[in-house]
Amino acid sequence: MNIDSVRTLFGKDLSSSTTAKQLDELEIAYLGRNGKINELLKNIKDIPASDKKEFGIGVNKLKTEITSALQKARQELFTKDDDSASIDVTLPGDKYPKGSLHTTTYAIEEISKIFEKIGFIRMSYPEIDWEHFAFETLNMPSDHPARDDFETFFINGPAHKTNGKMVLTPHTSNGQNREMLRLKGKPPIRMINIGKTYRPNWDASHVPMFHQFEGMCVDENINITHLKGTIDYFAKQFFGEKRETRLRPFNFRFTEPSFEVDITCGVCDGTGKVSGKRCKICKSGWLELGGSGMIHPNVLKAGGVDPKIYTGWAFGFGIERVFSMKAGLKLDDLRILYGGDIRFLEQF
Ligand code: PHE
Repeated sequence: MNIDSVRTLFGKDLSSSTTAKQLDELEIAYLGRNGKINELLKNIKDIPASDKKEFGIGVNKLKTEITSALQKARQELFTKDDDSASIDVTLPGDKYPKGSLHTTTYAIEEISKIFEKIGFIRMSYPEIDWEHFAFETLNMPSDHPARDDFETFFINGPAHKTNGKMVLTPHTSNGQNREMLRLKGKPPIRMINIGKTYRPNWDASHVPMFHQFEGMCVDENINITHLKGTIDYFAKQFFGEKRETRLRPFNFRFTEPSFEVDITCGVCDGTGKVSGKRCKICKSGWLELGGSGMIHPNVLKAGGVDPKIYTGWAFGFGIERVFSMKAGLKLDDLRILYGGDIRFLEQF
């Protein structure tokens, strides 16, 4: 093949190439390592010496022609293509997935706001703390069952001389002593301590890491009515005006008297019945919110607060619990909250 016949052949091939892929193939067939241009150059040894220069110039010229012809063809293809791929501005846009906060975070924010309105200060105290704050200052001596290692996670390591071992806090009550120390034993105290809490349980109704919020109020002349009033206020703000609460006698070492707090069920409105049948959520009309009570004098003393002058109350409720109660959810498995399945979390 000579230069002219390659040129003619290329012209034909080009006119029958209509796609980008065909143009790529054409480029390989002519300009590639084993392409027609290189084939022509291989022939140079058979060309008489006097014509070699002219032949070289001719091949190079053809190479340039082919290169620019391919470039032009691609450009045409591109502008043509662009036409069909152009944007139709009247089409609805693609929806991008939108992130959101975790349900526990929503609940924490709402709870903080509710207590902020009545002058409670939001605090965060250590979630890994000494036994001293988690138990000792709460009137829970070393033989208390909650201090067993199948009730509480202990951190391996040497015990501190006076503070004992470190634990993953099993409740937010460690904040009680810390808050009294922060205020150097000088009430008034109005604290809402929100944090992670840990207990070695893992089943359908327990996760080893959960959250609590701890309310604490200490001042002169504080009594149970203030506790009940505050819990009522919270229940109505968080769950709705219709909800009622009740205190049921209980036992905690750090409060005396102690109560469990119940709230009327939002599904059956406290009647225990839904269309004549026993309510599946509560069974009795009441749901348990958490623990509370009047702060034990020993606990006040441990925080440097004089129990002859001051009295106070505290309560501790679970966040996952109040969240699922608010949503009217009976989660078959609480672990779903932390399973990371977006399909579940997206619903709230
Ligand atoms: N700390 C208790 C618990 O985790 C709850 C509680 C807090 C009870 C404050 C009384 C006062 O069960």
